[in-house]
Amino acid sequence: MRTNFVCGNWKMNTTRASAIALAEACVVASRQTPSVRVGIAPPAIWLSDVAATIAGSSVALFAQNGHPAASGAFTGESSYAMLKEAGAIGLLVGHSERRQLFGETDAVVATKVAAARALGLEVILCVGETLEERDGGTTLQVVNRQVDAGLAEIATLDGITIAYEPVWAIGTGRNATAAQAQEVHAAIRSRLAIRFGAQAAAVVIQYGGSVKPETAASLLAESDVDGALVGGASLDSAAFGSIIAAGAL
Ligand code: PGA
Repeated sequence: MRTNFVCGNWKMNTTRASAIALAEACVVASRQTPSVRVGIAPPAIWLSDVAATIAGSSVALFAQNGHPAASGAFTGESSYAMLKEAGAIGLLVGHSERRQLFGETDAVVATKVAAARALGLEVILCVGETLEERDGGTTLQVVNRQVDAGLAEIATLDGITIAYEPVWAIGTGRNATAAQAQEVHAAIRSRLAIRFGAQAAAVVIQYGGSVKPETAASLLAESDVDGALVGGASLDSAAFGSIIAAGAL
């Protein structure tokens, strides 16, 4: 039996004060819905503040990005050890904004996943097709390639969550239907089973892309949809609380 996992991706939003307030609200929401795992991914600069705010709660702290090298001349970057020391227990890898805006290739994603797992950090590996790819009928091909490539350098699915985020649904207000999400989630699970066998049945596969309180329940009711990666709606504590609650239905 998989535990639903709802994670907020705050992207490059919040002030220090609003991040702390939002984190406090997430602690309350998590206490109110203990059957759902709750995570938050604030901007790196607020990780320590948010870690102090959620200390003692079951809210899991994720970074949005990091550099896989242990240290060195990488101006502007944070190493995984730094993120860990600031309180993160995991990080997002392969988010479409990183792939599209910062040139992260499948090979970079694979290196980042392996480096994170080597340090004991959890990974939320994001995959998803563009609108062009969906319209061209290559959704499953693209997603399978991203899953295979992203996990190429690891031997088990321990500490891995997959987030299926169709690029055309991110920040657009246009989410995949529950049936569209279920189709891809089931395909991802089958793909994982080829390499990882029975572990595939236990892996959490989140849906992401314009998840809102109104759409969360139907998406999360699908058998292979085990949670949500939430951008915009995670910045509104009431909306995020409703999405968490939908995971308990
Ligand atoms: P959105 O973002 O909910 O604002 O579409 C989701 C994500 O990018 O993780």
